[in-house]
Amino acid sequence: MDDCVTIKKKHLQRPIFRLRCLVKQLEKGDINVVDLKKNIEYAASVLEAVYIDETRKLLDTEDELSDIQSDSVPLEVRDWLASTFTREMGIVKRRPEEKPKFRSIVHAVQAGIFVERMYRKTSSMVGLAYPAEVIVTFKIPVPNLISFAEALEVGYSKYKNPYHNLIHAADVTQTVHYIMIHTGIMHWLTELEILAMIFAAAVHDYEHTGTTNNFHIQTRSDVAILYNDRSVLENHHVSAAYRLMQEEEMNILANLNKDDWRELRSLVIEMVLSTDMSGHFQQIKTMRHTLQQAQGVDKAKAMSLILHAADISHPAKSWELHYRWTMALMEEFFRQGDKEAALGLQFSPLCDRKSTLVAQSQIGFIDFIVEPTFSLLTDSMEKIVMPLIEEATKSESPAFGTPGQNSLGGVSNAEAQRRPGFKSTGDGGAHAENSLATVDLRGFRDNLMKIIQANKERWKELAAEEELGKNVGEQEKDQSRNSTDAQLQEETTRTQNESSQGSDGTTCPPRSIVLQVVSFDTPLSDESSSEKCTISDPNQKDLSDAQQETQSTDPLNGEPKHCKKSEDIVKATEQTEALVQN
Ligand code: CMP
Ligand code: MG
Ligand code: ZN
Repeated sequence: MDDCVTIKKKHLQRPIFRLRCLVKQLEKGDINVVDLKKNIEYAASVLEAVYIDETRKLLDTEDELSDIQSDSVPLEVRDWLASTFTREMGIVKRRPEEKPKFRSIVHAVQAGIFVERMYRKTSSMVGLAYPAEVIVTFKIPVPNLISFAEALEVGYSKYKNPYHNLIHAADVTQTVHYIMIHTGIMHWLTELEILAMIFAAAVHDYEHTGTTNNFHIQTRSDVAILYNDRSVLENHHVSAAYRLMQEEEMNILANLNKDDWRELRSLVIEMVLSTDMSGHFQQIKTMRHTLQQAQGVDKAKAMSLILHAADISHPAKSWELHYRWTMALMEEFFRQGDKEAALGLQFSPLCDRKSTLVAQSQIGFIDFIVEPTFSLLTDSMEKIVMPLIEEATKSESPAFGTPGQNSLGGVSNAEAQRRPGFKSTGDGGAHAENSLATVDLRGFRDNLMKIIQANKERWKELAAEEELGKNVGEQEKDQSRNSTDAQLQEETTRTQNESSQGSDGTTCPPRSIVLQVVSFDTPLSDESSSEKCTISDPNQKDLSDAQQETQSTDPLNGEPKHCKKSEDIVKATEQTEALVQN
């Protein structure tokens, strides 16, 4: 035992030291067989425990994926789902254990105020429909907010993406706002957390290059190198947005104290990084596990789920919107495919414009990604909000269901305590419809699920055509694909026409405003759009000449044609909300 004497006793409890000590003893030949057996058994049990744990982790993720192996899902779609929504195990995200306590920032930053003002190009306060008290307590300096919002618009328009542009940012921000109000979750969040949610949504795809993380990694782009291939785009979105605020005139967080600034930053980073789709299954699994536990739900996790759900929410909206978002995304994927072809790279899944099964992929996306996410979202909201509703009912808070109590639409006593800065604003921004009493979680869930199902059915009809195209001979295949394309084209035209018609066939201006704004470059309906809308991607500047040839200077002098005026975006967000409520 001489050698082992030199090893501190506490080290002997660690299997590695025990084993090394045994080796030394074996070398010397002074080993006690009983000790040897005991130690080997101990080491085996430790290894077994590690193995079981790792295997369980692996199997859990595979569980989620096993359904995808079903023959009903085309191979191409299966490959895409597996490669896009999973990543290697072992990259466990850090989470701050203890957050600083909430300290009041603004008294009435109702999320909608922020969203609307983010996109309102006006340096004057005149004409805003908010009461003076709200404006006074709104601690974000308005000129800074305007400069920041304008810089965001520029960044979102930089690559002229059909999908990942400022309208997508506005859409996701508005959807986060909608979820917070209609699930009642805003009553569980502090004002700082509400601000973090809205801010994270607004910046979550800032300066998106229109290409995927995998493309960045494969082409060894500057950002991929900078972020070591980990959540490349998502890291860039947050980092670049924060870099904007380093400029004094764009610093919308100038009035936050140090603790609030830190807390907000930590939440924003966690939320935006969780929009990386390769963490999807892991995120769903962790949250499902959390819901089964007795203790409360972690705030940052719940908020991340809300942003993630909003980010993939268009299949839960009217067919007209969903279809057009999908086609815009496909066009963006196809442009990446064009670049891949030019670079001699393999097509990424769904990026080959000649062979991608759009309708089939959407059925897979809805079945395996969207439905489970929204089901988990509503389960989570129920677990969190139901106790708040019960508490509010019991305490019969005057704010519960009584209009005009405060700018947040009524909160329970317990909630008022969670919001130390909370004060009544008189009737000001009162929204009785946003009180806990009016929260209808069942209605929220049923409505979403109904729309998702209806959209899936529409894709199934289109998929039947696609299937036909797959089964015919090579030459016919092309023709048939053309016919599928023609059908999709027809669908595009139809949704454009439908969308500008009221249910009685009359023209419905608000809807047409949304759809004009949401139509971006009107992909598919405008065959020449991909030529007109050239892509200049500084992140790919180290790529081959072949790619350089596909680039050209901005023909529109920095103002992309899909970049509509801010006023239109305000209208779009308002109207999109109306559509979501349908
Ligand atoms: P992003 O907005 O960065 O984060 C969510 C991602 O989900 C989005 O990019 C797309 O990559 C993906 N996504 C959204 N909608 C669809 C869809 N209809 N089909 C396939 N992928 C989608
Ligand atoms: Mg993103
Ligand atoms: Zn997004």
